[in-house]
Formats: sequence, C-alpha cells, structure tokens
Amino acid sequence: MLKPNVLEKLNQQINAELYSAYLYYSMAGYFESINLKGFANWMTIQAQEELTHVARFFDYINDRSARVNMRAVDAPSNDWASPRAAIEDVYKHECAISEKINECVTLALQEHDHSTNGFLQWFVTEQVEEEAAADAIVQSLKLIGDNTSGLFMLDVELAKRVFVPPPAAAA
Ligand code: FEO
Repeated sequence: MLKPNVLEKLNQQINAELYSAYLYYSMAGYFESINLKGFANWMTIQAQEELTHVARFFDYINDRSARVNMRAVDAPSNDWASPRAAIEDVYKHECAISEKINECVTLALQEHDHSTNGFLQWFVTEQVEEEAAADAIVQSLKLIGDNTSGLFMLDVELAKRVFVPPPAAAA
C-alpha cells in the first residue's frame, strides 16, 4: 500500500511528465515553424517518450491499488530566440526533472517504501541519458555557431531519430 505522501509525490510526477511532453510538442511546433524538420522530429520523439514515462507512473500507482489524480498542466512557452536557446531549455528542464525524481527517491527511502524506490530506479538511470542527450546537442550547437551548413547537417542527423518504446512500457 502506498502512503498518502508518497502517492501525492507520484501524482505530482505524472503532472511533471505530462508537462514535459507538452513542452516538447511545443518545441516541435517551434522547429517546424522555422523549417528545421530534423529538430522537430527529435522533439516529437522526445514528447512521445515522455508519454511513456507518464504511463509508467500511471501503471505503478494502479498496480499498488492507489488512485491516479490528474491536475492542470501548465502552459509551456511557444517561442524561443534560437534553436540553441530551445535546446538549452531542454537541458535545463531535464536537470529539473532529475531533481524531482531524486526528491521522489528521497521520500520513498524516508518512508521505507522499497517497492517505490525500486520502481524509481529506472527513472534515475533514464535521467542520466536524458541530460546527456540534450547536452550533446547543446555542445554541437556551440561548435556550429552561426554556420548555416553546420545547422543543416545537424538537422539531417536529428531527423534520423526514431521512437523506440522502452521495453516495460511497450508491453
Ligand atoms: Fe520524463 Fe525527460 O523526463
């Protein structure tokens, strides 16, 4: 059985993951508007992955016979000053999500809730990859600077990303 404070934290995380999907779809729209289809593709897949994160929390709460509670999702920004500004926001956002996951883990451990701690460890690992993926693009954009050909080549690279559902969420 989930303790009420742990359940509340998990429901808050569903909201944070939904916001992440909303933010990345917004960024996909921004990149479509400036004709960087590869960046838009990367963001769309990022949003799809976030929805699988929502599904993990949703399923876990239900598996523990507790009640999912949905709240209003904040409106994300719709415009960014440049591709680099948008990707830097992705990196900052993922760092903030990592902090939220860490807070969930800390609470689960305080409450001696080892099942929830075990469930959350997938996210602890995932956040390392999430931060690294965004930072890699930020670093590429720093190297590219104002070079339009470099930006085009990166766009072609990001167009290759495909959505692969994580194993547990694919079932
Ligand atoms: Fe679900 Fe990108 O963190």
